[in-house]
Formats: sequence, structure tokens, C-alpha cells
Amino acid sequence: MEKLECIFCKKEYLLDIFSPFCPECNEPMLCPAPQKKRTFYPGKASPLEKFIDFLPLSKINLDLSLKEGNTPLIRLNRLMDNLNLPPVFLKNETVNPTSSFKDRGTAVAIQKAVSLGIEKIGTVSTGNMASSTAAYGARAGLKTFVLLKEETSLEKLLAAGIYNPVLVKVKGDYGQLFYKSFAYGRKHNIYFMNSMDPFRIEGYKVTGFEIFLQLEKRIPKFIFVPVSSGGHITGLVRAFLDLKKEGIIQKFPTFIGVQARGCSPIAQAYTTGKLKVKRINKANTIAHSIANPDPPGGNMVLKLIQENKGKILDVSDEEILNAQKMLAELEGIFCQPASSTVLAGLLKLSEKEKFEVNDQIVLVATGGGLKTIKTLESFKIDIHQTSLSKLENTISSLAHGT
Ligand SMILES: Cc1ncc(COP(=O)(O)O)c(C=O)c1O
Ligand SMILES: [Zn+2]
Repeated sequence: MEKLECIFCKKEYLLDIFSPFCPECNEPMLCPAPQKKRTFYPGKASPLEKFIDFLPLSKINLDLSLKEGNTPLIRLNRLMDNLNLPPVFLKNETVNPTSSFKDRGTAVAIQKAVSLGIEKIGTVSTGNMASSTAAYGARAGLKTFVLLKEETSLEKLLAAGIYNPVLVKVKGDYGQLFYKSFAYGRKHNIYFMNSMDPFRIEGYKVTGFEIFLQLEKRIPKFIFVPVSSGGHITGLVRAFLDLKKEGIIQKFPTFIGVQARGCSPIAQAYTTGKLKVKRINKANTIAHSIANPDPPGGNMVLKLIQENKGKILDVSDEEILNAQKMLAELEGIFCQPASSTVLAGLLKLSEKEKFEVNDQIVLVATGGGLKTIKTLESFKIDIHQTSLSKLENTISSLAHGT
């Protein structure tokens, strides 16, 4: 019988796909490590097959995959030169099938759903997870429910709506919506694979394994990750904990979780040395995808970060937009404001931390910029106007800088 474990009370419980929370602590539960020795299968093309020993799956149905993962790790040479930084790499999760890291998690959760004979899946999301779940639901031929905040923009609605899920806009508190979805899911046989779903989190581990192999088995000094509900960073930290447990690595990277200042309940708890996250009343940031005022994985992130000597920072909207522009202008990488927080966080840390020349730094770019075009309206973009008859003069003066 499949079990889940609670890392707070250290107990195991039988898997209940409709409510993966500890009955005692009310915290999200995770998949326990198997007893057997685990290894990588580097010859396999699919990351799910390559890292299957580390996933809670006994076999992979490749028909359910959209070829997520295998994303590039790009060395940011111009950024390093401009800012005088040691080697900085960007793990480009924006090139996943629906342009975000969420596909890594959905890819594993959908395998679990189909293997359990589930016919209806769902998610509570304001953006990236909605389109990811809807896409994989469509691919698997499952009926998919997407519950959205009432104020979700048309832009985001369409990015999920194209896959034809059941879209429901819900008026009311978003934090409560998250918990209510499980109760209604159980009643109506809908598996809500929300942000802290244990199988989703296992899928995020694969990004960590890929980073490790792409750096030729060196452990980076720092890994920067944007944090909202907490599922993604939980998965990444667990990837390296698994490697340590298997004796594959001895050192551990320093994880730096980054939140937007306008919605930073986990960073606030971290800075004040608290063990529990206090929800905030209202989010106020341009980085909508990471604006969860009541993060269900908040206490877990605090625990993992404190136990593994990481940090949680917050950055302002101005710093986020600046970083977004910098990545595009210097490196040709266009990510969402929620993602550029990682560069803003690195710039903030570099004011205090003295890096060694050989320190390797990894920024995880979580979501593509085309999904949030509206936020670009504040950017000043130079456009030169001319007519066909004056075109040569215009080009000539622009080409020679006169
Ligand atoms: C682009 C992007 N980055 C980061 C995150 C944060 O992930 P998590 O909620 O798992 O902490 C999200 C979550 O929605 C996101 O959409
Ligand atoms: Zn517990």
C-alpha cells in the first residue's frame, strides 16, 4: 500500500489522493524514500525514465508526456562580465511545454492519476499551473477542472482555456479555495493536483538532478528559486537531500528562496526567526504568479531552509522589473517577473556576500515572459519612425550612431 510521510511528526499515513495533508499537523505530506538503492539511467532520453528510481512511479507511460524537462543550463557570460560575478548559470525552465516548471510536476502527477484510474483532475491556480494541468489533462483525455480567482486576467484565462478544461472563476478568499478544493474533489472524485501535491513535488526534483549532471556532478554554491506556495523549492531541496542520502554527494548547495516584497510571508517569517508562517492580508506585487498570501507549504519551506542553511530574501517590484529587462537585454532570455526575482535576489545577495571566483551560481528561471505581456506596458521601448523614401538615411544614421 502506498504511503505518504509527514516531515513534521515523522509519521507515515496511507496515501489519500484526495487530501495529502497530515491528519495531526495539517501540513502537506511528501512521498517517502524507497528502501532500495537508487541510481540514474543516463542512457534514457526521457527525464522521467532517467530518474525513475527517485520518483514515486513504478513505470512511465510515455504517451502521457509532453516531453517536459531536459531544459538547458545556460552560462550567463555577459551578465557575469557586466556585474563582475563568478560563474552564473540559468536553468531555463521557460522552455517546458507550457512555458513553466509546473510541467515537471504535472508530468509526474498525471502518471499517478492515470495509474490509479482517476478520470477527473483539477487545480487551483492563477496562471502557470492552470495551463500546465489543463494541457496534461487534455493529453491524457481526462476531464480537468481549473478553479481561478475572480480577478484572473483574460490573458491567463486564455492560456489555460485553449486546452478546453472546465474553467471556474471563484469569488472569495483564495487561501480557503485551496483547502475547499480537496473537500469537493473527494466528494466528486476529482484529484486536485495543487501546488503542494506530493507527486508534483517529486517531479520538481528532476530539475535538481539535471542541474547536478549538467554541472558535471559539481555542487553549485548557490541555487536561487522564486517561492510562492513552496512546492518548487521543496522539490529542489529534496533532490539534493536524495543525492546525499544515496551517498552520491557530500556537499550541499545553499538554497536562496526569493519572494516579491509585496507578498513575502515566508521571507518575513525567516527574517524574524519564526518557525511558522503568518498569512498576510493582501498581495501587492507585479509578480502575480508568486503572490500567494497564505502559502500552504510555507512552514515546510522554513523548516527545509533552516535545516539546510539556506536563506529567504525578498525583492521589490522595481528590482524584479529591472532584472527582467537585464536578462532579456544582456542574455536574450525573456522570463516572467515571477522568475526574474532570482536575478534580483542574486544582485541583492551580492551586496552582502563576497563570492569566491570559482563559486557556481544557478538561477532557476521558472516561467516564460510571453504569458505576462501586459506587465511590459510600463517599459520604455524606443521605436524609430521613417518612410520608405527616407529609410536608407534613417538606417545609415542609426548604423553609424549619428
Ligand atoms: C513562474 C512561477 N515561478 C515560481 C512559482 C512558485 O512556485 P511555488 O508556488 O511552488 O513556490 C510559481 C508558482 O505558481 C510560478 O508560476
Ligand atoms: Zn504530521
